Amino acid sequence: FLVEDIRNFSIIAHVDHGKSTLADRLLELTGTIDKTKNNKQVLDKLQVERERGITVKAQTASLFYSFQGKQYLLNLIDTPGHVDFSYEVSRSLSACQGVLLVIDANEGIQAQTVANFFLAFEAQLTVIPVINKIDLKNADPDMVEKQIEKVFDIPSDECIKISAKLGTNVESVLQAVIERIPPPKVHRKNPLRALVFDSTFDQYRGVIANVALFDGVVSKGDKIVSAHNQKTYEVNEVGVLNPNEKSTHKLYAGQVGYLIAGMKDVTEAQIGDTLYLHNHPVEPLPGFKSAKPMVFAGMYPVDQSEYNNLKSAIEKLTLNDSSVTVHRDSSLALGAGWRLGFLGLLHMEVFNQRLEQEYNAAVILTTPTVPYKAVLSSAKLIKARRAVQQNMMFIDQSRVMLKYLFPLNEIVVDFYDSLKSLSSGYASFDYEDAGYQTAELVKMDILLNGNIVEELVTIVHKDKAHTVGKTICERLKDTLPRQLFEIAIQAAIGSKIVARETVKPYRKNVLAKCYGGDITRKMKLLKRQAEGKKRMRKIGNIEVPKDAFIKVLKTQ
Ligand code: GTP
Repeated sequence: FLVEDIRNFSIIAHVDHGKSTLADRLLELTGTIDKTKNNKQVLDKLQVERERGITVKAQTASLFYSFQGKQYLLNLIDTPGHVDFSYEVSRSLSACQGVLLVIDANEGIQAQTVANFFLAFEAQLTVIPVINKIDLKNADPDMVEKQIEKVFDIPSDECIKISAKLGTNVESVLQAVIERIPPPKVHRKNPLRALVFDSTFDQYRGVIANVALFDGVVSKGDKIVSAHNQKTYEVNEVGVLNPNEKSTHKLYAGQVGYLIAGMKDVTEAQIGDTLYLHNHPVEPLPGFKSAKPMVFAGMYPVDQSEYNNLKSAIEKLTLNDSSVTVHRDSSLALGAGWRLGFLGLLHMEVFNQRLEQEYNAAVILTTPTVPYKAVLSSAKLIKARRAVQQNMMFIDQSRVMLKYLFPLNEIVVDFYDSLKSLSSGYASFDYEDAGYQTAELVKMDILLNGNIVEELVTIVHKDKAHTVGKTICERLKDTLPRQLFEIAIQAAIGSKIVARETVKPYRKNVLAKCYGGDITRKMKLLKRQAEGKKRMRKIGNIEVPKDAFIKVLKTQ
């Protein structure tokens, strides 16, 4: 293919506006997949994507399309819509010259429509607005056209109105891709310059790097160098994604495809890395802003003997999802594990589910927290900041866009759900990091008869201390076995007690049922009791079973 016959584009949208359905239709129209089959979200390959009906990973497919007697190569990169995965979106865009911005004809512009539009706009890509679901009874494409003109300053005659579900007018989307999106600006005669924009791990073949070629050619057998680690590799396989891998022996500048080059270590296929030919060094391409984790949680193997297996599973999965950060951590209660950083709660749940489904791992995930920067001072004098309104814009008579500054820990856990239920599902939400703010945070200790339980020390906002403390005390009360004496469970900030529960005493005499002198039976029972004690942790004179911590720390 000549460079001028290639188009690299992406589909972006608010969640559920129909990206994956449109991708299915484009794949069918171009004969990439069989039309007769019941195609549903073909690019959503992961089990978690199919179960939840959402796209998590960006996927790539090369489509061949004839238009006005000419054959074109269209590289389509499907992207996720949920706010937690916008990192995948910005990465995919770096390999594209244009986007299809899909907007539901019923719902109109939503939070991620705006967020994704600006990602494309900042990357100076051509934006083609596609109004989808015009078959719906309440569809109002004209209203959406006006919104697009007002919010994005795109003339309404540039909007394409379609039904991805029924296939109505989808052909004109392909034509717009060819007519409006420019071919990639690349030079085939220059030495190879390829951007690694994604990578996956295959059990048998090692690292599979998804690459976009900006300059030159790469062939099977070539020796290539990673600009990042300066190591040399031999290319074992190159090809296009169709949408499954199809080996082609060569990839040319302007093309998007994959490459396997014996990279085994997860650190070798850095996303954002530039690959070039051995002895032909080039200026590396600008990489990506690294993703910034917002939510942190501890992850531990259910059984410590599984530590190494879990370690390798996490390494492989983070190769496929480089936005997760991993640091080793250990907890008195849960043993050796990691502290993982995620882009949001859904991201955390999906990562956990993928570990379980794709790697068969059994893990304990602790309650998520957000990062704080602590400044040690005698008084925390400055008032805590609550949500502060920044800006307001009317999209039309019935819709308004509000911008607020929020403390992150107020939004990560259940803000999205509350917003949805308060607005009967109408409101949508997107966020970006606004930096650290001072806040009145306190360290809360949990005490058992006056002794601090180190495993349960947490940082909370002063106003939330009572509620959080109460929940932890109640959960502990439910899980602590009664002992020979009364146990006071307290949540304290410094010397101030903010919540309290009591576990009543109980006398458990394991020998009570042994009348008579059967000494071997008595010994057996005492031995069993001693074994039980090994699984206990002693805090003061209180024996706490390890799973009590798990129950208190776990998310569900
Ligand atoms: P994420 O991948 O989670 O971001 O969602 P998405 O934007 O890819 O949406 P998807 O294609 O999964 O479609 C969401 C829902 O809308 C599905 O139930 C589709 O069947 C439905 N849908 C998509 N296009 C149309 C359409 O043209 N008309 C109607 N009526 N429904 C549609």
